[in-house]
Amino acid sequence: MRAPQSGALVFYGATGDLAYKKIFPALHRMVKAGVLNVPVIGVARQGWSLEQLQGRARESIAQHGGGVDPIAFPALMRLLRYVEGDYAAPATFDQLQRELGGATHALHYLAIPQSLFETVIGQLTRTGCDQSARLVLEKPFGTDLASARHLNGVLHRCFDETAIFRIDHYLGKEAVQNLVFFRFANAFLEPIWNRRYVENVQITMAEPFGIKGRGAFYDQTGAIRDVVQNHLLQVLSNIAMEPPPRSHDAETLRDEKVKVLKAIAPLDPRHVVRGQVRGYLDEPGVAPRSRTETFVALTLRIESWRWEGVPFFVRTGKSLPEACTEVVVKLRRPPPVAGVPLAPNYVRFRLGPDFQIGLGATVREPGLPQGHPLELLAKHDHEGAETDPYAELLGDAMRGETFRFARQDYVEEAWRIVDPILVPAAPPIVYEPGSWGPPEARALVPGGWADRARQP
Ligand code: BG6
Repeated sequence: MRAPQSGALVFYGATGDLAYKKIFPALHRMVKAGVLNVPVIGVARQGWSLEQLQGRARESIAQHGGGVDPIAFPALMRLLRYVEGDYAAPATFDQLQRELGGATHALHYLAIPQSLFETVIGQLTRTGCDQSARLVLEKPFGTDLASARHLNGVLHRCFDETAIFRIDHYLGKEAVQNLVFFRFANAFLEPIWNRRYVENVQITMAEPFGIKGRGAFYDQTGAIRDVVQNHLLQVLSNIAMEPPPRSHDAETLRDEKVKVLKAIAPLDPRHVVRGQVRGYLDEPGVAPRSRTETFVALTLRIESWRWEGVPFFVRTGKSLPEACTEVVVKLRRPPPVAGVPLAPNYVRFRLGPDFQIGLGATVREPGLPQGHPLELLAKHDHEGAETDPYAELLGDAMRGETFRFARQDYVEEAWRIVDPILVPAAPPIVYEPGSWGPPEARALVPGGWADRARQP
């Protein structure tokens, strides 16, 4: 049975950075696609008027939404309302209740610091706005296992799990969804997708820029909480999961992903390299002797029949040489042909900024006995292929579809894995901007990482 559509969309933090960069462009896109035609209520505590918020929306869409559409933008403005006030003040929620006017299954998107979640949920309960409501929560969900459990406890006092939507925008990305699709839609992969054929799996998320003025947020967060616990473990689960049963409903897919995490032991700090880019300590909002990592590389092991003995290497960092989110599944080296040693084959999924799937093969060098490595490339980022993950995910949440959101057990398993490395025992290793992080990270992977410029 299909869940009912939300009768209103409320977003908290309407004057904030996330609303500016992601939410207004997503709402504009949804109106343009004809999937949003209910009241949209922004809530914030900036002393703004509705006109100011409208101005901000226009600017945001012009800058980050690919331009203001002459039909969709006025339509969005007709839907937009504004509630001004402190989240702790009952008057704010009394006004919100009036604006909602009895809308059912209203979606409340908490694009605010998680320290405010409990306050907002308390007010929703007090005013009865929690009745039939849905909640969307920004990542990271909690700051460690204990806080995530606490937060889940708070939410479950008032909301059923089917009404809770924990956002991880990677789950709204085409290329990340295609990982699962490609694996199970192509019969040639399954026979080799296991410990007999796979030497290791390497997941890289490299960003060429720094923390972009988000010092206060980032210094409390660091690379492990910011992207490993969520985005990169999601990518890893998609690579490693078992095929869900054919008659799968939304939950069976999420069940399979949880099973992957359950098979991973908590991380051992000895298998983790933490780095901090030179210059980070001078960023506004960063503590003078901060130990926060802007780079991390680590080794994970999945203790399952399929993956026993196959290391999964994960690395991510700010101020690295290029923008690249990529998974390389490196196969075991074939035996020499006619006495000539061969390079290992691999499957490479490039998830961003462009989408590609590359198959690393070896052909005979014309006239010579040795092999010549070449990559068979499938590009699949034709014009318009990339959707807006936020528009996709908000659309799902408005329809009550949970499968592209992180479930409670998944989030807690993910924290269980990273929990032992959250508090650093030693300062991070300083690395130069534009490098691939501390040299120690390279030593984690026998034979080195499969950098773009240096394929395996
Ligand atoms: C966010 C992180 O969740 O993801 C950022 O907070 C990071 O630090 C961003 O830059 C990367 O997302 P994308 O979609 O640009 O790969």
